[in-house]
Amino acid sequence: MEKIVSLCKRRGFIFQSSEIYGGLNGFWDYGPLGVELKKNLKDFWWRRNVRERDDMEGMDGSIIMNRAVWKASGHEETFSDPMVDCKKCNSRNRADQLPEKDGEKYCPSCGSRDLTEARDFNLMFKSHAGPLETEDNMVYLRPETAQAIFVNFRNVLDTTRQKLPFGIAQIGKAFRNEINPRNYIFRSREFEQMEIEYFCRPEDGMQLTDYWLEQRLAFYEDIGIPRSKIHINDIPDGDRAFYSKKTYDLEYEFPFGVSELEGIAYRTDYDLSKHIEHSGKPLDYYDEVTKERFIPHVVEPSAGTDRTALALICEAFDEETVTDEKGKSETRTVMRFHPRMAPIKCGIFPLLKNKPQLVDKAREIVASLRGFMNVFYDESGAIGRRYRRQDEAGTPFCVTVDFDTIGENGPEKEGTVTLRHRDSMQQERIAIADLKNYLLEKIS
Ligand code: GAP
Repeated sequence: MEKIVSLCKRRGFIFQSSEIYGGLNGFWDYGPLGVELKKNLKDFWWRRNVRERDDMEGMDGSIIMNRAVWKASGHEETFSDPMVDCKKCNSRNRADQLPEKDGEKYCPSCGSRDLTEARDFNLMFKSHAGPLETEDNMVYLRPETAQAIFVNFRNVLDTTRQKLPFGIAQIGKAFRNEINPRNYIFRSREFEQMEIEYFCRPEDGMQLTDYWLEQRLAFYEDIGIPRSKIHINDIPDGDRAFYSKKTYDLEYEFPFGVSELEGIAYRTDYDLSKHIEHSGKPLDYYDEVTKERFIPHVVEPSAGTDRTALALICEAFDEETVTDEKGKSETRTVMRFHPRMAPIKCGIFPLLKNKPQLVDKAREIVASLRGFMNVFYDESGAIGRRYRRQDEAGTPFCVTVDFDTIGENGPEKEGTVTLRHRDSMQQERIAIADLKNYLLEKIS
């Protein structure tokens, strides 16, 4: 992890939030490369789950909602973790994450065993809407995006005329005042979720949970996380939420251990029923074919954007020893992102920066690609150095404009460039006229 964290800072993937003021525990900023990576991830999730499907609608709910939502969902009463205080150094820790020696838990900060009893700590951040800081105006920052979907079920149904089964998808920020944020961006206090609520007839819930498990595993493969690195944890009876008939946790082999990326939960009709009960509004469904009225059941694939971004970074990170033609060996750090996810798709270099014809041609190529993908122009330093910089950024392709390109060595190679592949470091000639389509095919 140390190497990964250092590369992420050095290359501008992830920075500590408010770093110049000492940071803020549990909060992170995405830099120029990180934001592109995360955007590619979210765009692809949206494409796969919303645009490419007839049975899915998208939405974007507000972060702050009526407090009644959180009373109805049960979050106000039960969305908590057990917390203990150390009586010696006053540090606070999650009771279920305390280290243990000889069967006794101790404080991870000072080692003392003098700890308070565990008590519940609600993880929702509180604020006030409006100028009065009264109990009546109290609001929460949402701890999950899902509830905005449930409370809009009727609105989406009425405005889209979907029929069961259909889903509503949403990507957005969520906030949890985690007692101990840890493992870099894995457990933070502000994060993003990519959630689907897939509504169905009660008898289809179990089978659709397995269907979504397959869909989600295929998604991870499509972004470059192989099935072999994902552990499927079929949560046993008794360990699931009481309303869930089936839950799969998808876990990834992070360098700090196998940990959860996503949960796929069959939540029955629990959420809609609760909102019907508390709001008195009809969130049920009338089946025009069978003439039945019932409360739909729901399957929820809920993924963390930041955790998936971290998995992409961990999966991509590689160091290899390369030896040049003169026999000199060096370590090459390369981020082997799937081209779909790579923050920069193509680096474009003129061989020499003081040759206007090379520079102009390279700039022309940049202009022709820019509307279609994120490209990076670089004219400084030796070509080998420029390739290495793009290897660290995870850029799958680099293009060099040289004297052949501008026809100085005869007409044969005029209008072609060197295309260099990040993973194999192989180079080939490609016509400029074919470049855009070649790259688009690889990154789409
Ligand atoms: N609506 C269901 C729900 O929110 P969850 O298992 O609490 O379920 C879903 O959260 C996903 O959100 C997790 O699998 C994880 O990827 C992500 N997530 C949850 N808490 C997080 C945190 N503190 N930091 C980063 N990601 C988190």
